[in-house]
Amino acid sequence: MALPRRRKLHYHRLRSLVQVVSAISGTLLLLFPFLSFLFPSPDESEHFHLRHHQTSFNTVVKDSVSDRNSVFKIPVRAPSLLSTGGKLDRDLWSSKNAKFFYGCSNSSARFAKAEAITHPTRYLAIATSGGLNQQRTGITDAVVAARILNATLVVPKLDQKSFWKDARCQVTVSTSSCPFISFLSKDVKIIKQLPKRGGRTWTPYTMRVPRKCSERCYLNRVLPVLLKRHNAVQLNKFDYRLANRLDTGLQKLRCRVNYHALQFANPILEMGKILVQRLRMRSKHYIALHLRFEPDMLAFSGCDYGGGEKEKNELGAIQKRWKTLHKNNPDKERRQGRCPLAPEEVGLMLRALGYGSDVHIYVASGEVYGGEETLRPLKALFPNFYSKDTIATKEELGPFLSFSSRMAALDFIVCDESDVFVTNNNGNMARILAGRRKYFGHKPTIRPNAKKLYHLFLSRNNMTWEEFSSRIRTLQKGFMGEPKEVRPGRGEFHENPSTCICEDSEAMGKVKADSRHKKHGKLDDSSRKYVMVSDDQNDYDDNDVPEWPDLDEDEDEEDESGSKEKHLSNVTGSDYGAVISDEPELEAMLSD
Ligand SMILES: *[C@@H]1O[C@H](CO)[C@@H](O)[C@H](O)[C@H]1NC(C)=O
Ligand SMILES: *[C@@H]1O[C@H](CO)[C@@H](O)[C@H](O)[C@H]1NC(C)=O
Ligand SMILES: *[C@@H]1O[C@H](CO)[C@@H](O)[C@H](O)[C@H]1NC(C)=O
Ligand SMILES: *[C@@H]1O[C@H](CO)[C@@H](O)[C@H](O)[C@H]1NC(C)=O
Repeated sequence: MALPRRRKLHYHRLRSLVQVVSAISGTLLLLFPFLSFLFPSPDESEHFHLRHHQTSFNTVVKDSVSDRNSVFKIPVRAPSLLSTGGKLDRDLWSSKNAKFFYGCSNSSARFAKAEAITHPTRYLAIATSGGLNQQRTGITDAVVAARILNATLVVPKLDQKSFWKDARCQVTVSTSSCPFISFLSKDVKIIKQLPKRGGRTWTPYTMRVPRKCSERCYLNRVLPVLLKRHNAVQLNKFDYRLANRLDTGLQKLRCRVNYHALQFANPILEMGKILVQRLRMRSKHYIALHLRFEPDMLAFSGCDYGGGEKEKNELGAIQKRWKTLHKNNPDKERRQGRCPLAPEEVGLMLRALGYGSDVHIYVASGEVYGGEETLRPLKALFPNFYSKDTIATKEELGPFLSFSSRMAALDFIVCDESDVFVTNNNGNMARILAGRRKYFGHKPTIRPNAKKLYHLFLSRNNMTWEEFSSRIRTLQKGFMGEPKEVRPGRGEFHENPSTCICEDSEAMGKVKADSRHKKHGKLDDSSRKYVMVSDDQNDYDDNDVPEWPDLDEDEDEEDESGSKEKHLSNVTGSDYGAVISDEPELEAMLSD
């Protein structure tokens, strides 16, 4: 993706900071416990809403508009189309034409079996980096890297904090409980540990490869080391180290790993399932919102959320912790779509897209800047508002609470299972889930067209709800997670796994023919629209969907003991206080 150089520079420091944190790696300190008081029990919120929100049809959600006499009256139920006599042009809970597309990651007959290509004395190990979703891409890409090198993969080291299945899987006893190894047995030989050499533990040679390293890059950089030096190489900081474009066989392998072999550990899967069941007991459908609105995130984004002096001071104080943080121009940031939508804006967008106040919404988030105040307008729009903490007890969450990545994994599952997934950001979790939901049937996945929505939100008090909602619907075309919205090759592979999505063109053709027949030669509207999607003016574009401050943008080839990092450890240790003690937390916060 084309990234402005400027951003590269100021994230660089922060990334180094995270590396230091990795090195320090203290006990976990969590943002998540805050949730329990940020999101009160349903009873409390009910009470809360009685004061702020009348339940009659066509009520105005008072707190969400500044001017009570405004013509901007937000309907409780159906969108504006009521007044124009129109009907929603889409099903709220499914994507158009989704049934004609399916995930296809099986290998072709030409893809050589692991036994045929694995070189007996080539071993590849990796050290993963970062939070849950960075680890996911790291582990996935490591399998492909091993395949490129004809090497045996040493299963990524996952300590007891780990949340992936296979962490302590007894490979020698049975592979049936090790989907990661058994599922991939034809593709790559995977072992638990490096074999001993002369009775001694074998220490691999450690190195790094550049970000987005291509097949040729692995052959040029890693293969010679494997051949000449040690026969065993460990690639450090292994996240996003594999190119987006690879040949089809390797891309499909990537999908087999990501979507099939790699699974969460059983306790996480089970708890995730319970959360989903509880949501489904309350309502047939639910929306999951991945909301990123942490104070640090906002400070880092340099955006203005309309909180005046107070906000400026609070976020400014946080910004000072990053000494080299570039001062952004808030207006410019917003114009470029780099600011995460505020909870209220997400709520308005959803209402405009047709989701009424009866819809149930699960909110996956860390600490929310401004807490209850910030969430109030969203809760007023969607009173059936849940989070982990309102649908599970403290006891149930106990085993997960002190591990931020486990909590993130639970949210991942609930978001993945949701009928509609919506984000206010473009972070790793949003992107990985977007890709995953495409692969598993194109369930609606709403990603705000932030750059264009910005103007609309700014001028919303100047227009009627009908105009507003109609414009939202127009601007969000191409950002709804429908098939073929994103052209092949656009975006990251994990976000747009186009090589692994196949089209049932026969069935598709049949439907088109039928509708043509019915319409006496006129092309059916819906199929025409479908064909047009990729030429739509709102076509999802790397430039439209802004980069989220990730930790994976630039190159950092310094090794862990680099002097810069030592220097930074001082800065971070003194400035960052408590949060710093949790390695995955900080990284996850900034990247997921
Ligand atoms: C992929 O392979 C599996 C198992 O070999 C098989 O059950 C499945 O039908 C195949 N899928 C496709 C789309 O061919
Ligand atoms: C891997 O094995 C295949 C088949 O023997 C061979 O064509 C290819 O060049 C090998 N690649 C490497 C990096 O050794
Ligand atoms: C709203 O309309 C007024 C008068 O038409 C105009 O002066 C103002 O700039 C508009 N505000 C926005 C945000 O578009
Ligand atoms: C580390 O922090 C101490 C105390 O804040 C300060 O005196 C010292 O100069 C710092 N060192 C570096 C390398 O920044």
